[in-house]
Amino acid sequence: MKLLEPGAYTDPAMLPKELARIFGRSWQFAGALEDLAAPGCFLSCEVAGEPVVVVNEERRLRAFSAVCRHRAGRVAGGKGCARALRCAYHGWTYGLDGRLLGAPEMPDLDRSQVCLPEFRAEAFGPFVFVCLDADVPGIADSFDPVGADPLVARTTGWRCFRRHDYLLACDWKVYVDNYLEGYHIPVAHPELNRQIDYGAYRVETFRRVSRQHAPVKAADTLYHRDLGAGQEPEARYWWMFPNLMLNLYPDHVQLNAVLPEGPGRCRVRFEWFVPEPPPADWEARFAANFAFSDAVQAEDIELCEAVQKGLGSRTYTDPRICEARENGVAHFHGLWREAMGRGPSEPAG
Ligand code: FES
Ligand SMILES: [Fe+2]
Repeated sequence: MKLLEPGAYTDPAMLPKELARIFGRSWQFAGALEDLAAPGCFLSCEVAGEPVVVVNEERRLRAFSAVCRHRAGRVAGGKGCARALRCAYHGWTYGLDGRLLGAPEMPDLDRSQVCLPEFRAEAFGPFVFVCLDADVPGIADSFDPVGADPLVARTTGWRCFRRHDYLLACDWKVYVDNYLEGYHIPVAHPELNRQIDYGAYRVETFRRVSRQHAPVKAADTLYHRDLGAGQEPEARYWWMFPNLMLNLYPDHVQLNAVLPEGPGRCRVRFEWFVPEPPPADWEARFAANFAFSDAVQAEDIELCEAVQKGLGSRTYTDPRICEARENGVAHFHGLWREAMGRGPSEPAG
């Protein structure tokens, strides 16, 4: 399996194509379902560069373009509850079904001819996802078999506890590549390496998702005090093409969404969801959990930013892969090529 060529990460012309062919044709994380609990609630987000508003319209989740049909102002920002969406520019108002309700000083406008284009919205666990494309399979198919995981089913109704964004000077794919292999753990994450059984670490691939198995080595590590040596924690590390990770534990789930921020830059959004009410002593455990994950994150950021620089080197033209340890990366690159309409060894562009 050939890895993506360096140009796929460094060519500024690549991102607009990826937004259209990959981010515009996949289910993207939009926000927390709890923010849409009551009819009239809305949340705004950006999907593949498109401003989007998701609403609870009479208990139906619906997503619309948040771009006003007048002169492209924004019909909703942030989140909240309202009877109608009102553009911040000249005050055109839209119903939660997307139809134009009012346009100040324009009595002759045929309002029935104006409505916000509709996208797709679906709930998955405690999350809301949006897809801009009408032909992409639903979430259950796109994320198969993640939905069948009992650890996902139990997260329904959980609430967002904390959110933290990291900004990285690297292409979004560099970060995803890094997440998808454990080959770097012994060298780059000494503390994490002490906790897991690296020899037994493996990545299992499915159609459009993959799962990492990371059995713990010692019973007295930070997270897995109750486990015996060699036992796999009751945790799942799922990656869903193209840019989503779900790290599921019995009492919390950590979601990571890798969002392009322009060529050579990305934002990695971390969100922690917990049951309501949160588990006992959660604040203290979260503090320890965050400190550890933040330290690992700092190690990964340094690696990823160095890789981005390296990918731009005029001497680096022939990537090599460790088949035994980097199968998850190869799987991702195969899906990327497929989505971009490239053959297995065709250069991207
Ligand atoms: S752009 Fe929205 S009302 Fe003018
Ligand atoms: Fe890492």
